[in-house]
Amino acid sequence: MTTKSNFSVTPWDVTGEVNYEKLVKDFGTSFINDKIHNRLKTAHPLLRRGIYFSHRDFDKWLEAHDAGKKVSVLTGRGPSERMHLGHLVPFLVAKSLQDEFDCEVFIPISDDEKFYVKDQLTYENAISYSEDNILDLIALGFKPGKTFIFEDFVYTSIYRYAARIAKRITYSEAKAVFGLKPENNIGWSFYPAMQAAHILFPQFVRGAHMTVVPVGIDQDPFIRLTRDVAEHRDFHFTKPAALHAKFIPSLYGDPKMSASKEGTIYLSDTPEEVKKKINKYAFSGGQSTIEDHRRLGGNPDIDVSYQYLRMFFEPDDAKLDHIYEEYKSGRMLSGELKKILIEKINLFLDSHRKKKEEAKKILDSFIYKE
Ligand code: TRP
Repeated sequence: MTTKSNFSVTPWDVTGEVNYEKLVKDFGTSFINDKIHNRLKTAHPLLRRGIYFSHRDFDKWLEAHDAGKKVSVLTGRGPSERMHLGHLVPFLVAKSLQDEFDCEVFIPISDDEKFYVKDQLTYENAISYSEDNILDLIALGFKPGKTFIFEDFVYTSIYRYAARIAKRITYSEAKAVFGLKPENNIGWSFYPAMQAAHILFPQFVRGAHMTVVPVGIDQDPFIRLTRDVAEHRDFHFTKPAALHAKFIPSLYGDPKMSASKEGTIYLSDTPEEVKKKINKYAFSGGQSTIEDHRRLGGNPDIDVSYQYLRMFFEPDDAKLDHIYEEYKSGRMLSGELKKILIEKINLFLDSHRKKKEEAKKILDSFIYKE
C-alpha cells in the first residue's frame, strides 16, 4: 500500500523511512499491548521487546487456545537466496509459540513467488534455494511430527486450494492490494491466491480453527486479502490472526536488512567473516575517540550491535540492561560491545551449522504428506 507520506510498503518493495504508527493506522491493525505481553511467558525477545509491534486478532488466538480449542501457527519463506539473520525473524517467533503452546506449525516455501518476481532467478535455482533454506529452518529446532513444510513447486496439490481462492479474488482487488503494475508478468497476479492458500492451508487440512501468521508488516496485504475470503460461503473458515514485525536493520543501520549489502550476516558465514563484517560495518553509537567515549558515553539506541543483542542474542533482561548501562556510561567501548556480539553470533552459527547437517537426516519427516 502506498501511503500519503514519503514512504511506501508493499510485499515486494519498501522505500523511504517507515512510520510504523502510520502503518498501523492505514492498515487498520492493532498495537501489541501489555495484556498480550503479560500473557506470553516464554516468548522470543523479538516478541517481548517490541520488534513485533502490531497484530490482528492475536488476542482471539490466545483466547481460543485458553478455551481449549485448536490453534496453529503458519509462516512462510520466499527462497530467493541463502538465508541471513533477518530471514529468521518470523521463524524464531513461530518456534517460540510452538514451544509455549505446543501447537502445529506449517511452513510453506514460495519458490514460485520468487521465481516470478526475481527476473534473474531461474527455476532450477529457486528449487535449490528451497532445499537449502528448508534445512536452515529445520535446524531451528521445530518439533518433528508437529511441523509441516511444503514447497509450491513440489507440493503441487496446493494448486487445488489456490484455484478455489483465485475464483473469489478479482483482478482489480489484487491490483489495488498489491500495487500490481502493467509490466509485471501474470505470475504476480495469481501468486496472491497461492499465499492465501498457504495461510488457509491449516484449515483446509484440519478444519476451521484459528491460525496466527507471524510476518514482516510488508506481508499484511496478503493477510488482509486472506481474511476477506476466509469466511466466504465456499469455505466457512475463521479469519487468520497475524503478528507484524518491524524491519530488521542491516549492519549499516539501514531500515531493512538486504541481501545486496556486503554487511549482511549469512547463516553460512565463517567466524572470520562474522568478525570482519561486524567490526567493519556494524553501525556504532560510540564517540569517535576513546576520550570522548569515556566522557560522553555511547548511544545504545542507535548502535546496531546493541540492537542485535536486544533482538536476537541476549535473551537475559538483566544482562542486556547491564550492557546498556555500561555502554551508555562510556565504561564499555564500541570494540568491546562488538566483541560480545561477535562471540554470540559465532556461538549461534556454530551450533546452527551442526544442526543443519543433522537436519539432512530428518528432513523427510518434516515434509507435509497427505
Ligand atoms: N511471501 C513471503 C516472503 O516473501 C513468504 C511466504 C510465503 C509467506 N507464503 C507465506 C509468509 C505465508 C507468510 C505466510 O517472505
